[in-house]
Amino acid sequence: MTETRIVTKRLHDRVDDSWTLDGSLASGGYEVLRAVLARGDAADVQNQVKLSGLRGRGGAGFPTAQKWSFLPPDSFPRYLVVNADEGEPSTFKDRMLLELDPHQLIEGITIASYAVQCSLAFVYVRGEFALGYERLTRAIDDARGQGFLGRNILGSGFDCDIVVHRGAGAYICGEETALLESLEGERGMPRIRPPFPAIEGLYAKPTVVNNVETLSTVPHIMQMGGEEYAKLGVNRSTGTRIFSVSGHVNKPGNYEVELGMSFRDLLYGLAGGIRADRKIKFIIPGGASSQWLTGSDEHLDAPLDMDFVQQTFGVMLGSGAVMVFDETVDPVLVAWRLAKFFAHESCGKCTPCREGTGWVEKVLYRMSHGLGRPQDLDLLVSVGANISPGLVNAPFVQTTICPLGPSAVSCVASINKFFRDEVLERLRNDAGVHA
Ligand SMILES: Cc1cc2nc3c(=O)[nH]c(=O)nc-3n(C[C@H](O)[C@H](O)[C@H](O)COP(=O)(O)O)c2cc1C
Ligand code: SF4
Repeated sequence: MTETRIVTKRLHDRVDDSWTLDGSLASGGYEVLRAVLARGDAADVQNQVKLSGLRGRGGAGFPTAQKWSFLPPDSFPRYLVVNADEGEPSTFKDRMLLELDPHQLIEGITIASYAVQCSLAFVYVRGEFALGYERLTRAIDDARGQGFLGRNILGSGFDCDIVVHRGAGAYICGEETALLESLEGERGMPRIRPPFPAIEGLYAKPTVVNNVETLSTVPHIMQMGGEEYAKLGVNRSTGTRIFSVSGHVNKPGNYEVELGMSFRDLLYGLAGGIRADRKIKFIIPGGASSQWLTGSDEHLDAPLDMDFVQQTFGVMLGSGAVMVFDETVDPVLVAWRLAKFFAHESCGKCTPCREGTGWVEKVLYRMSHGLGRPQDLDLLVSVGANISPGLVNAPFVQTTICPLGPSAVSCVASINKFFRDEVLERLRNDAGVHA
């Protein structure tokens, strides 16, 4: 079982200097940008990204070239905004890319900006990422000094610069429209859509928002060619993704793998299996927002394929964070901890999320602390369905402005689906109610 290192190649090959200009230049940094600008065909960049099948690595998996194509053709200025907020619990891949290969990101931003004809890009960096911020800003200065950024890049006539903005610790500012509000100096609350950012984004101008890993992949697509990149992966999940594996595995960490690998190969092959050879109780496969899987053969043998896991199990690969919990873990306690996070991070703009997340947290608190009532599980499901109608076995419908509300009750749907009997028995015992 091996990784397929494309986006993470330099940081593994050059552990001593992968983040420096010298380290980058010595391993092919900015050569693709040079070639792209020399060719002078912005439409071809869009086309190669389209052929590659690249889908966003920030969570929703939206096709990148399609997102770029939504920009109205004659409306300028337009902006590229890079989402480096990485607040999804257990996701730690963008941080690694920022800290260990900022020049790769800068090259990706510049090529993408060229493709969409934008001359000013913004990077919104999670406030806590002190080292990432420091290395990124240093790298931008160094790149500017070499003519890879700024006016008339490499003599091509193309101008592009990057502004870095630090977040202030709010998870919701990773949601793209809240991020734009925050960039504009407003309180970070999601916008009602339409209009979508491609039409009216930052400063009411056409805007593309892309994730760090998404943009870091772009130079490699241009180097390999879109069709060649699309040969990697499976179905509509092309290429590689970095999975942040955490929890009770022997070797937690970031693994870049070809999509289509099974959960089993990722967790037992690359991540070294489960500590003390215990069994897996459950897996949260796509960041805290996702519904859960178990350690069953059916789930472990499933491919890392965004559409397959969604259609077959109703879960998402999301931000590529796989949390593993062994049989010693109480799923209700984990659900409570997640609910507490979402209740705290709800921005309060819409009622079902603002009110509902607080109630879900309170009920899960008492359930996980021996104070639950037999009816509490159904109560939770009912509150959850008011935030996310269709929570249990029905099509997804969103009553909230952004997906944070529905994400907050993924844990409720999951404990009801996989641990209902166990939880009900425990609630009856806690309440002293015996059949
Ligand atoms: C509550 C919430 C938090 C999010 N946080 C992030 C984040 O930290 N980083 C990120 O790239 N995308 C995040 N997203 C997804 C973004 O809204 C957006 O879809 C993404 O940045 C688009 O980039 P991509 O198409 O390259 O994936 C979040 C979404 C929601 C609803
Ligand atoms: S769903 Fe929650 S976080 Fe999203 S806009 Fe509504 S209140 Fe804010």
